[in-house]
Amino acid sequence: MTPRTADAAFDRQWWKEAIVYQIYPRSFNDSDGDGIGDLRGIVEKVDYLDDLGVDVVWLCPVYDSPMADNGYDIRDFRSIADTYGSVDDWERLRDVLHERGIRLVMDLVLNHTSDEHEWFRRSRREEDGYADYYHWREGEPDEPPNNWESIFGGPAWSYDEARGEWYLHLFDEKQPDLNWRTPAVREEMKAVVEWWLERGIDGFRMDAVSHMSKTDGLPDGDPSNSPVGAEHYSHGPRLESYLAELNADVLSAYDAMTVAEMGMTTVDQAADYVNAADNGIHMVFQFDHLDVGGHTEDWEFDDGTDGSDGDDAGSDAGGIDLPEFKRVVTEKQRELDWDAIFLGNHDVPRIVSQFGTNSYRERSATLLGTFLLTMRGTPYIYQGEEIGMTNTEFESLDALDDPKTVGRVEALLEDGVVDSFEEVAGVVNARSRDHARTPMQWSDDPHAGFTGGEPWLPANENYPAVNVGVQRSGEESVLAGYRRLIDLRQRFDVLVYGDYELLAPDHEQVYAYVRTGNAETVLVVLNWSASPAHVPDLDVATDDADLLFANAADAPADPSGATLQPYGATVYLL
Ligand code: GLC
Repeated sequence: MTPRTADAAFDRQWWKEAIVYQIYPRSFNDSDGDGIGDLRGIVEKVDYLDDLGVDVVWLCPVYDSPMADNGYDIRDFRSIADTYGSVDDWERLRDVLHERGIRLVMDLVLNHTSDEHEWFRRSRREEDGYADYYHWREGEPDEPPNNWESIFGGPAWSYDEARGEWYLHLFDEKQPDLNWRTPAVREEMKAVVEWWLERGIDGFRMDAVSHMSKTDGLPDGDPSNSPVGAEHYSHGPRLESYLAELNADVLSAYDAMTVAEMGMTTVDQAADYVNAADNGIHMVFQFDHLDVGGHTEDWEFDDGTDGSDGDDAGSDAGGIDLPEFKRVVTEKQRELDWDAIFLGNHDVPRIVSQFGTNSYRERSATLLGTFLLTMRGTPYIYQGEEIGMTNTEFESLDALDDPKTVGRVEALLEDGVVDSFEEVAGVVNARSRDHARTPMQWSDDPHAGFTGGEPWLPANENYPAVNVGVQRSGEESVLAGYRRLIDLRQRFDVLVYGDYELLAPDHEQVYAYVRTGNAETVLVVLNWSASPAHVPDLDVATDDADLLFANAADAPADPSGATLQPYGATVYLL
């Protein structure tokens, strides 16, 4: 590989230079035929990851769990779920990754545990020292302590018969919220963090961080908010001090990368964490840009709308409000000292279906890859994006697994807001987290080569055409495009550290930007639309440009004033 271009002026950090690959273990690769992905299955694919060229694996939770939320409900922070394997398997995965120079980042769920965690069982019995590990409130069994709604639908409180009190859960009822005001809880969680770091991991993706602190007294929320109470359970008064304590007492002693998931968070709020040194947060998953995706259906049904914009999620609606998308991305680039660059993950639909289109599946997939790998920040590739996986179609409630989607549909049915699944099919197919959780498509073998058994969630029907096997050898495949883009980012420091400047902000089809380092300038020109685009005269000299990457034949030597094919993506060295 060509050595990185030297530039001493950059504030170099390994996690800034890293390309992260996110693995959802349940859906990645099944080694033992039980239909569920596992750690040995990941080990089998480490050569694939090495070949792809990624630097870090973010592994979604593999801890012991009753799997009410596919592992985000942790029963024991220090052991591995049987369905995923053993501690030995985990150590083997860590070692095999490290041998290839790939770092390992674990998912850290700070906000809640499983209701089957030993702490909750003790808390429910009010054992010495454990009574306040969670948020408990007295009250009549038919009257929750306040009007907060869970992010997964329905009330955020469940009544516990054993203790004769209510407990708070911002997610599933099997995910009680930890009470971080209790010092012993903070000590326990610091010990968990240290335990994993001592086992040689390289960092954490920190789950649901914005919800760790709640407004004192847990007051009622504004009933017109959705979910009700969110203003009291996002960015509570002690969040910064909890994170600063965790950093001062544990994290700061390690060279570990951190990325905090912050839902319900503005760019300004995210900047408060990213741009401050003392809380140990290197970057934040902030979601404003995802809200500009092509499918805008929402769970709002109270106003008599059916939640659908008339398009099926798997359809070819394509097209996003590009000027708005550019505005939001550019604001994040400006406000955040360092950004997490992502379009997808295990909680949102597939990026081709959301930000591209099925009718130009390959080209829109590589355009999205070009965006991810040429922005300023640390790029995150979610499994399957590198082969252009798309949404599937869910035709009944039974076809769904995701507790968030199921919970919301059931709440709408129970409250009589809708009478049938058909009425919510539009929003379900636009939003369900299950789109991202269908099995990784390895080959055209049954079930996409993911399992020798019956998969826990069926593979997308398009797997015979869309899979790693067919793309491996094709020079024009999405996979080949991702490999070239990854290689490009690793060769050009300017793509990691260079300044970002937006060109032609109001153009409806073209997203163009320059990345400027001390020695090099790179221009990226993307036709983010399903029609040919005329590139306006760009405000930079392009007559001597060198084409570094293109996802379509006949890319212009000089992009200014040229025409780009639908979803054509180009990268130039100026
Ligand atoms: C985060 C995870 C999501 C999970 C939730 C509760 O948002 O990404 O998958 O359901 O937290 O842990």
